[in-house]
Amino acid sequence: MEVNEEAERPWAGPLGPLLARPGVTDVLVQEPGYAWVDSGGALARETVDLPDADAVRALAVRMAGAGGRRLDDAAPLVDARLPDGTRLHAVLPPLAPDCAAISLRSVRARALDMEDLVASGMVTGPLGQVLRAMVARRLSVLVTGATGSGKTTLLASLLSLVDSGERILIIEEAGELSPAHPHVVRLVERRANIEGSGAVGLSTLVREAMRMRPDRVVLGECRGAEVREVLSVFNTGHRGGFATLHANSPADAPARLVALGSLAGLDQRTVELQAAIAFDAVVHVERIGDARRVTRVATLARAADASLTAVDALVWDRGRWVTGPAWESLGVRLGIEIEVGLRVA
Ligand SMILES: Nc1ncnc2c1ncn2[C@@H]1O[C@H](COP(=O)(O)OP(=O)(O)OP(=O)(O)O)[C@@H](O)[C@H]1O
Ligand SMILES: [Mg+2]
Repeated sequence: MEVNEEAERPWAGPLGPLLARPGVTDVLVQEPGYAWVDSGGALARETVDLPDADAVRALAVRMAGAGGRRLDDAAPLVDARLPDGTRLHAVLPPLAPDCAAISLRSVRARALDMEDLVASGMVTGPLGQVLRAMVARRLSVLVTGATGSGKTTLLASLLSLVDSGERILIIEEAGELSPAHPHVVRLVERRANIEGSGAVGLSTLVREAMRMRPDRVVLGECRGAEVREVLSVFNTGHRGGFATLHANSPADAPARLVALGSLAGLDQRTVELQAAIAFDAVVHVERIGDARRVTRVATLARAADASLTAVDALVWDRGRWVTGPAWESLGVRLGIEIEVGLRVA
């Protein structure tokens, strides 16, 4: 069946055909006439019919409108979710001085499940079994990775493994996660209006979520002071939750958590103490060339000097999985013994 791309994304204008292309994850515009497209390898520049800065601005405004948000001189920044799930970020001049900057992140209509992640090479060897056991045994998991590494995608597939009898509460900035699960409640933050009032932030939503009888509490992305509420929730008997965190490696996660905690007025020791209890495992994703893969599983523990450190349990090392010092205890908790060190294609 032929798909009429324009009809599917009437808001996307000349960017519609780029978004419709298989394998495209990001479409970026910051000058008239061109879009940069990420379809796996390096970004490629393509010509698009956006003749001048006004046309780029008009498109940004139209897309924000399609996402139910306003974008104008009074509110020159927007982070929104478009009708097909695409995530829109846009900035207008003068914040982007020469031309509006549009960043689109495509989101699949159907969440990738664990089999898809195995097929795409993101999850290899014993990892599938490890991740399934993490979900089944209700470990609290922190997914780490750099920008665009696949954190949200991995998180959605983990949520798809949650038993269908459980109630999942997802708290997010822009409503990206759509796991294949029958019982999901999503809460999306609201920014302040022009007068500066009416904001309902992630911290409030995490607290509210606790009154909504969650079996699983999920914070789409931990990026600010809401880390305090997340640590508190995960420390007070709510097991089996998930969060993602921008970090270049699990080893960087403690410092990131401490930095975010300081935004909420928490001191380093408090964050370290709470995080060590809150998170049972860290699962790290990386983008390597045009591939995205899980490269590390770690636990968070307190070192002899009481500082928080990531201890490796499984490491993808030159084409094979090897175990680290934390594997034994993690493996026992997961109830699995695995053969690692086998070369995995
Ligand atoms: N295993 C995969 N196979 C195919 N595409 C993937 C895979 N993992 C991620 N992607 C695609 O890569 C893009 C980035 O993934 P995702 O949004 O999950 O990354 P992220 O780490 O959450 O990014 P951000 O830092 O912006 O939140 C998405 O368009 C997603 O569909
Ligand atoms: Mg994400």
